[in-house]
Amino acid sequence: MVGDDRGPAGFSKEVWALFTLPDFPWDRLAPYKERALAHADGIVDLSVGTPVDPTPEPIRQALAAASDAPGYPQTYGTPELREAVAGWLRRRAGVTGADPDAVLPVIGTKELVAWLPTLLGAGPGDKVVFPALAYPTYDVGARLAGADPVATDGLLSLGPVAPKIVWVNSPSNPTGKVLPAEHLRKVVAWARGRGAVVVSDECYLEFGWDERNPPISILHPDVCEGSHEGLLALNSLSKRSNMAGYRAGFVTGDLALVRRLLEVRKHAGMIVPAPVQAAMTVAYGDDAHVDEQRARYARRRAALREAFERHGFRIEHSEASLYLWATRDEPCWDTVAHLASLGVLVGPGEFYGPGGARHVRIAFTATDARVAAATTRL
Ligand SMILES: Cc1ncc(COP(=O)(O)O)c(C=O)c1O
Repeated sequence: MVGDDRGPAGFSKEVWALFTLPDFPWDRLAPYKERALAHADGIVDLSVGTPVDPTPEPIRQALAAASDAPGYPQTYGTPELREAVAGWLRRRAGVTGADPDAVLPVIGTKELVAWLPTLLGAGPGDKVVFPALAYPTYDVGARLAGADPVATDGLLSLGPVAPKIVWVNSPSNPTGKVLPAEHLRKVVAWARGRGAVVVSDECYLEFGWDERNPPISILHPDVCEGSHEGLLALNSLSKRSNMAGYRAGFVTGDLALVRRLLEVRKHAGMIVPAPVQAAMTVAYGDDAHVDEQRARYARRRAALREAFERHGFRIEHSEASLYLWATRDEPCWDTVAHLASLGVLVGPGEFYGPGGARHVRIAFTATDARVAAATTRL
């Protein structure tokens, strides 16, 4: 029998939450994409942060060399992969206590962002907090767990209620803002005082552009004071190593939490394929390709920044990440429409929260030729 406490077709309300997800927002951009596509010299698509430069050759070779994979891979990841990640954490993120045992590979971090509240056991009545302007999947993850999504930058506004999970994302998508160590330290202290887990999405950690305010990991001793208790950090190879098509990232931090995630992920079959694990090992073992990619993005960023400012835009934050957060002090859809008429597609700020209603997000993940086309048109 289906009572009031059940959703349609007798599913539980928590399961029914799966069906009340927001509309996939990118569909709303489709008419503007069509307009931009109609430009005589074609579209310049700056709306999504999908890398366009080749995956570095040694990474592709590692994938190919591991393509004979008849057996099941390890959910935990190979010891070589976990060691390579721990080395990267020490070298590039200054995480002195990096422990390979606390590294867990994931099938791209979007997957982890969407399922983390569920995997950690958050459910109805639990609060999952994330930034007011944020990557939409934090909200989706709270909803998939049947928990309450709370978009806020002011933890104090939550009052005495202890959330289950607090997401931080520095450098931020969409604004490119970097949270300094003091800010992150306060978040950690606040959450520890309430038994909340802080999860730090650090996908853009190696894309800082302002030496005065460099991105810092939540696991850096200046933030966590040497203890990873109650903390998780995640990193992705999608942007760092042009590997978005491989689906590869990891989560690390509090060993007890990572073990819990491993346990559930083993049961659920959330396993990174063996050839991808081999490619990840090479990617995290090398920084030269990242520095080359950084140089490409730095050039594109400078060119786009200059062109958009000249065109009357004000750029805010944007000290890191792969985006410019820009405004002409008008509703974001007017800006999207204006730029689409020039054949340039950007992301409406509204996709990231109501506070983005008068901004657009400009990705600099486009080839040099397309960036040059955009700057000429502007
Ligand atoms: C802040 C943030 N987190 C996570 C992701 C997901 O990245 P991936 O699933 O490719 O690792 C993205 C992708 O754009 C992102 O911007």
